[in-house]
Amino acid sequence: MSNLPGPKARALIERDSSVISPSYPRGYPFAMDHGKGTEVWDVDGNRFLDFAAGIAVVATGHSHPQVVKAIQDQVEKFIHISSDFYHSTWVELAEKLNEIAPFEEDALSFMTNSGTESVEAAIKLARHHTGRSGFIGFTGAFHGRTMGAVTFTASKPVYHRGFYPLMNGVIHAPYPNTFRPVLASRAGEDYGETVVRYIEEEIFGHIMPPDEVAGILIEPIQGEGGYIVPPQGFFPALRELCDKYGILLIADEVQSGMGRTGKWWAIEHFGVEPDIVAAAKGIASGMPLGAIIARKSVMTWPKGAHGNTYGGNPVACAASLATIDLIEKEYLRNAAEVGEYAQNALKEIMARHPSIGDVRGIGLMIGVDFVEDAESRAPAHDLRDRIVDLAFERGLLLLGCGDSVIRVAPPLSISKSEVDEGLKIFEDAINAAERA
Ligand SMILES: Cc1ncc(COP(=O)(O)O)c(C=O)c1O
Repeated sequence: MSNLPGPKARALIERDSSVISPSYPRGYPFAMDHGKGTEVWDVDGNRFLDFAAGIAVVATGHSHPQVVKAIQDQVEKFIHISSDFYHSTWVELAEKLNEIAPFEEDALSFMTNSGTESVEAAIKLARHHTGRSGFIGFTGAFHGRTMGAVTFTASKPVYHRGFYPLMNGVIHAPYPNTFRPVLASRAGEDYGETVVRYIEEEIFGHIMPPDEVAGILIEPIQGEGGYIVPPQGFFPALRELCDKYGILLIADEVQSGMGRTGKWWAIEHFGVEPDIVAAAKGIASGMPLGAIIARKSVMTWPKGAHGNTYGGNPVACAASLATIDLIEKEYLRNAAEVGEYAQNALKEIMARHPSIGDVRGIGLMIGVDFVEDAESRAPAHDLRDRIVDLAFERGLLLLGCGDSVIRVAPPLSISKSEVDEGLKIFEDAINAAERA
């Protein structure tokens, strides 16, 4: 397939470039025609395996029949009525989110249309509930691109260039990245505890008074920043810090949630309960839906304080209910099992390729980090980009993240044989890129 893009894709991309905003961060020239499960076809009839799932969105695979049927049935009834009124699909979804929320307390949900809007709602709720205005975010984070969320986003300068001033009152701490740590730990100290100590001693001690901090916003596994899993000591120490100063712990589970790690929420792997969860992406298998799920005692804002026209859109909610049903019955287990299988296979590939410095992740949220050399762990940015392009030419859709990482984030429905097929292409692409 080295003649990509084909003639139809080339023509479409040409038209696209004359009418679509140039700000979209397009990678290689994949022009979609249709998809089924983990497979997708481009407009020229070429077949690909999709290990990116529309940036970790199509949780149940492309156009799962149960999701398609739920959408069709709802569309026949009504498409929209607005969040000023009531309907059962919306309530049913909120009841389901209450059931799967990662805390004991009852939950209330606020529905949005995207990840960034969920983060925006979480920021506003935290300010409103605590009466405080400050926040802590993390370097490498990605929380979206609207003005509040993008202030916390700290993975690439391009997200901020040309947009200052951003939201006031946000300070970034280093994300607990044990592969490339930037802080020095004390003897015997878990690196996660080092980061929490930095927040308390350096940020609270010298910059922002903790009694003015409304919330700490964090991805339980960092996504766009490089699929980074924090060490086990981090979240318990962070929760303790939040409790000590009356700060809300806000988990951005937009990418890591909805079963991607084999549990509903990635934070469940670390044994602590957040106060607010931001969700989107996999929540409705590709229909534009997001939500914040908060403890009832935290979602205290009054009527009119926050709202939106499309909130609780019935078609998106119907798709979400079908998605949650499939994840609950089949794909939570599949994500854990096939995720472990894929990670083991990737570690075998790593053993054959010194250019791979790390394979990490939980469930089907796996990062493969390419390095210039094992000792310095310097990010091999260009090699990573070449591999992504060469994999595309061989029929595999991959996405990069961080400086030098390739993410493996296929639909949660992926089978072991599809993993085998995809990883064979992946290794061929690595071989070809290393030769180049
Ligand atoms: C963790 C996280 N939060 C928020 C967002 C923003 O979501 P959206 O692009 O739907 O606004 C993303 C998107 O990649 C994300 O990964």
